Amino acid sequence: MNRHFNTSRESSGREVFKRKADDTQESEIKLPKTETDEHYILRTNNADSKLALPVQPDYYDKSFPDYRQPVEIGCFSLDSNRQLFNDARQLKYCVKPTSKNPNFNLRDGYKDRYIKRNDNIKEKLDHILKWILLNKHKFPTLSGDDKSPALSNQLHTDFITWRGHLTKILTTPYENREGWMLAVTLFHGTYYMSEVETEEARRQREQRTEMQEELIYGGYKFEQYLCADKPGGNPNPAGVVNTNEAFCCVVRTRLNGHSLVFSGEVDCKDNSDPRLKAPQCYVELKTSREIYTPNQERNFHRFKLIKWWAQSFLPGVPRIITGFRDDNGMVVSLQSFETMKIHHLVKNERNCWKPAVCLNFCNDFLSFVKKVVTHDDHRMVTLFSWEPGKDISYTVHTDRTYAFLPDWYVENMIIQKGEHNAE
Ligand code: A3P
Ligand code: MG
Repeated sequence: MNRHFNTSRESSGREVFKRKADDTQESEIKLPKTETDEHYILRTNNADSKLALPVQPDYYDKSFPDYRQPVEIGCFSLDSNRQLFNDARQLKYCVKPTSKNPNFNLRDGYKDRYIKRNDNIKEKLDHILKWILLNKHKFPTLSGDDKSPALSNQLHTDFITWRGHLTKILTTPYENREGWMLAVTLFHGTYYMSEVETEEARRQREQRTEMQEELIYGGYKFEQYLCADKPGGNPNPAGVVNTNEAFCCVVRTRLNGHSLVFSGEVDCKDNSDPRLKAPQCYVELKTSREIYTPNQERNFHRFKLIKWWAQSFLPGVPRIITGFRDDNGMVVSLQSFETMKIHHLVKNERNCWKPAVCLNFCNDFLSFVKKVVTHDDHRMVTLFSWEPGKDISYTVHTDRTYAFLPDWYVENMIIQKGEHNAE
């Protein structure tokens, strides 16, 4: 099996950084390409200067980087109280409707059978960190038999994060509405990346209309219509929709020189072919408004499919089943998209997004993080921020404002070292 997702094995290794001055009066100097083919843009003036990363797609329009076939190294489940279990008890099984025109009512139960997760509670990386502590043996050098004590407390993984954070990075070169903030801490050689909600995102979340809330509910309700709790079982649309419950896979992969372990929620499994191993057996479920006009189709291609592609491409989920709904919230048609063929659907759109640009940008962003964050300190946070139309910038924080690695995690990782020394 091809271990790489791209058609080209070439890795350009080019990276683009700018040195950006905090002051507004800045100049920009393009430096010649270095031996490693990196090209920097140096913005400088008399004030402190800082590196910045440009996001314009043109910078990243080159051959596809290496993206290794993601491997599932574990999974976990969250129950109705958001309690973590180190198993697949929340995995659901996909039951494809026989009718192409299923008439699912996505509004049914919104008022009386909906338990909504409290999105004021920021869980940060806590579930992933818990999973890591329960699965140290999956990071081989942590068991450390033949390793020096200095190496035995390391995960030997460059980045730990949520898949959703990486999806946002991948789509940044084409995003023109929503900015983001990512907190990064380097601890025992691993970069932990955890999102911080922007003021604007919080405002939007707190001011959602009833109609928007109902649409969000509809996305989960669709999952209920298509999923059974057990293999061979039937969906139960009369049940409660509880968005606290989740099944998450944990995958390991590599983007050029960056090793990554990330977790993402998986909607369901296609159990019809026993030869399909995770993540190839996983299915993503989506809803979208029915498309009537060429303009709507163009927007669907340009703005929606990029997010769907990035979300499923990252963990190697091969298929997306979509329910198209009418304005009354009824699913009127179903369509299946193959993740690896989505770019064929969009490539004829003028100025459309390109998978290679998304991945090259992500590669350069991860290189940028490594270049900027050099102090290995669990209390230190470098906050990377991006707003549409701007470069990516950062601020460094040594107070606890943005710190996100909990004491129980840090202490456990340090004890690991002590245990080894005592042996
Ligand atoms: P749709 O994607 O069908 O709209 P996911 O598709 O990622 O598995 O997420 C399931 C549902 O959660 C979505 O269904 C949507 O209703 C809701 N959802 C996902 N991301 C969201 C976000 N950023 N804000 C609000 N709701 C979101
Ligand atoms: Mg989904």
